[in-house]
Amino acid sequence: MFEGKHIVVGITGGIAAYKAAELVSQLRQRGADVHCIMTEHAAQLVSPITFGELSGNDVTVNMFANISHWDVQHIALARLADLFVIAPATANIIGKAACGIADDMLSTTLMATKAPVLFVPAMNTNMYENPIVQRNIRTLREAGYTVMEPESGHLACNTSGKGRFPKTEAILSEIEKALFGQHLLRGKKVIVSAGGTKENIDPVRYIGNRSSGKMGYAIARAAAMEDADVTLVSCTEELPVPEGVRVRYVQNAREMKQAMDALFDACDVAVMAAAVSDYRTKNESPRKIKKEDHDALTIQLELNPDILYGLGQKKQHQFLVGFAAETNDVIEHGKEKLERKNLDMLVANDVSQAGAGFNVSTNIASLLYRDHTMEQFPIMTKEELGRVIIRKIAERL
Ligand code: PMT
Repeated sequence: MFEGKHIVVGITGGIAAYKAAELVSQLRQRGADVHCIMTEHAAQLVSPITFGELSGNDVTVNMFANISHWDVQHIALARLADLFVIAPATANIIGKAACGIADDMLSTTLMATKAPVLFVPAMNTNMYENPIVQRNIRTLREAGYTVMEPESGHLACNTSGKGRFPKTEAILSEIEKALFGQHLLRGKKVIVSAGGTKENIDPVRYIGNRSSGKMGYAIARAAAMEDADVTLVSCTEELPVPEGVRVRYVQNAREMKQAMDALFDACDVAVMAAAVSDYRTKNESPRKIKKEDHDALTIQLELNPDILYGLGQKKQHQFLVGFAAETNDVIEHGKEKLERKNLDMLVANDVSQAGAGFNVSTNIASLLYRDHTMEQFPIMTKEELGRVIIRKIAERL
């Protein structure tokens, strides 16, 4: 994910310094070249050796220590960085950065960098809420730095409140956004449906399909990366909800229609990636059907509403995207669905191909547009395809 990216992690002297070890490890596991700078206070809390081992690079603490190469170290790291992350960021480093103080290795390197900077504050609630700290955070944001919100919960000082170091996943997501996000959907509301609907037969059985929700979740995540306000309408509770994304869980086609219809008027982009059952059971049994009562069983089905078609009918300013899961004549069927459902874009995937479609981590897709143009893409991860789809939507908004 972060291959080829140089990330400088500044660790300051808060008790959460030990949690930065996990962050550094995860960044390296995701392919980043990680360089750590620790303040003297941080080095009292966690040994620089830990960060050296986890990052695979020398750790810098002292500005005047011997270094193994010629470049002036703080300038070298400042130049090298694609991203600077201060985690944890104490009130002290926030104050120094906001006031332009550069009096040690970390603050000097920070001052010298032109890379984007992400602060991850972690401290006691009273310190965090101190008006001077809040003013300094505002100053940093106005200067173009990103400052994450700390979490609320139990704190090392044995109190509870706002100031906890965020979860590693949340920080990684902010890092991804800082490295790759282009704010393409800032101010836009995006709704995405994901997963396979389940139509009850009785309280213990249902008619479902093989959709895992991965494709829809990847699109929601990619939209959030581009600063959209994203709501997922999801049939699965198994997948982790992407950072910054709201989720509404639904079970069957009628619930999904209700949720999508309710959100549609106020949205700018709607993407139907869910696999919706075309039929539902006509007479759902309120009690478990017993085999002793039936030698053979016939379940009658009735048509479900076509949610996407309905959205196409009432579309005004919205950009509407549908999927087509096909096994033959993929493009022809896709074109027909694009027209009939009044879509702006259609993602056609041939679900009979290996590595495409249901319940795999990759997909092979063609994007069909309203102006009759088309783009075909090779196999890629659903995360990558999600980003492609969001970029293409943003280009056409
Ligand atoms: O979830 P994954 O495991 O990651 O798999 C991804 C996927 C294969 C489910 C996804 O890539 C995909 O193709 N989703 C659409 C599946 C589908 O229902 O296709 P369809 O060709 O039957 O329907 C066409 C479009 O109409 C779809 O956007 C569908 O959401 C929508 N639809 C269908 C039926 C219905 N009653 N209401 C609808 O809104």
